[in-house]
Amino acid sequence: MAKNIYLIGFMGSGKSTVGKLLAQNLSMDFYDIDEFIVENTKMTIPEIFKKAGEKWFREQEAFALDCLSSGDNRVIATGGGIVETPSNTEKLKGLDNVFFLNASSDRLWQRVGKDANRPLSKNISDFVKLYQKRKPLYKEVSNFTIETDILSPEEVANQIISVLQAH
Ligand code: S3P
Repeated sequence: MAKNIYLIGFMGSGKSTVGKLLAQNLSMDFYDIDEFIVENTKMTIPEIFKKAGEKWFREQEAFALDCLSSGDNRVIATGGGIVETPSNTEKLKGLDNVFFLNASSDRLWQRVGKDANRPLSKNISDFVKLYQKRKPLYKEVSNFTIETDILSPEEVANQIISVLQAH
C-alpha cells in the first residue's frame, strides 16, 4: 500500500504538470484538488470565486483534501491556497511525502500572470504579497522543498523520485 504524495506550492509552481509525470513514472493515480472541486461543484474556479466567494471555495478545497486523502497510491496536486485553511495545514503536517515546489515570485508570475482561470493572479504586487505570506506556511507543512526555477517538470519529478528512493 503506497503512501500518497502531496504536491504543494504557489500558483505556477508546476504541481499539476509534475504530479501527472510523477504518477505515470511511479504507477500511481493522479488527482488534482482544483479538478475535484470543479467536478464536484459543477462550476469553474472563477465562477466559484465570483458567485459563492473565496470562503466557500476554501470549504470545498478542505472537503476535497479530506476525500482525496482517504485513498492510497495517489499523487495529489493541491491548489496554491491549501495552506490558507488551518485544518488543512494541520492535516498536511501529520503526513509524510509532502513536497513543496518552490520558485521565485518573478518566475511564478512569468508562468501564470493574469491567468483568467486564476482569480488570485490578477496583478503582480498582490501576487507577490500573497506568495511572501504563504511561503513560510508551505515550508512549515512540507517534508521536502524542491527549487524549480531552472528545472523542467521532468527534472522536478526525477528529483522527487530520488528523494523518495533515499528515504
Ligand atoms: C489558488 C490557486 C489555484 C486555485 C484557486 C486559488 C490560490 O490553484 O486553487 O485559483 O489561492 O493560490 P493553482 O495553485 O493550481 O493555480
